[in-house]
Amino acid sequence: MAGKIKHSIYNCGIVQFSKIHNRAGNITALENGISVPFDVKRVYYLYDIPGGEGRGGHAHKELQQFIIAVSGAFDVLLDDGTNKKIVHLDRPYIGLHIVPGIWRELINFSSGSVCLVLASKKYNEADYIRNYEDYLIETKK
Ligand code: TYD
Repeated sequence: MAGKIKHSIYNCGIVQFSKIHNRAGNITALENGISVPFDVKRVYYLYDIPGGEGRGGHAHKELQQFIIAVSGAFDVLLDDGTNKKIVHLDRPYIGLHIVPGIWRELINFSSGSVCLVLASKKYNEADYIRNYEDYLIETKK
């Protein structure tokens, strides 16, 4: 997040992925550059999260992500240092695109939920801002 923050929570958005449906269930397929507007370099998932728990209080300097509630439900709090909003995710065919430079918290996990994350870069601890005060300072530079 070099210099003044360039990204706003209003650049984060919900995307509805296509669903291949038949009587035996559904398939959603995600392809780089088609369903996802960045090259996916990493996929990870959060699971075995106790009901009501929260995670993910941090921002990323460069990383873009799609967050999908592939099972169950949770809320994503988005904060750009000025504006905040909460997005409720509870459908496996809905993705929340989070642009770089956004503080996010994943809260209110339902018991047994699974959060799938598609990420634009490999894991890099140096890309994280983990302290909210430091984040606010970055957004005001
Ligand atoms: P973190 O991203 O802080 O998860 P959350 O914000 O949901 O609590 O990651 C938690 C730990 O897992 C941290 O020590 C880094 C490690 N980790 C990896 O090693 N690789 C990864 O791809 C991710 C997402 C985390």
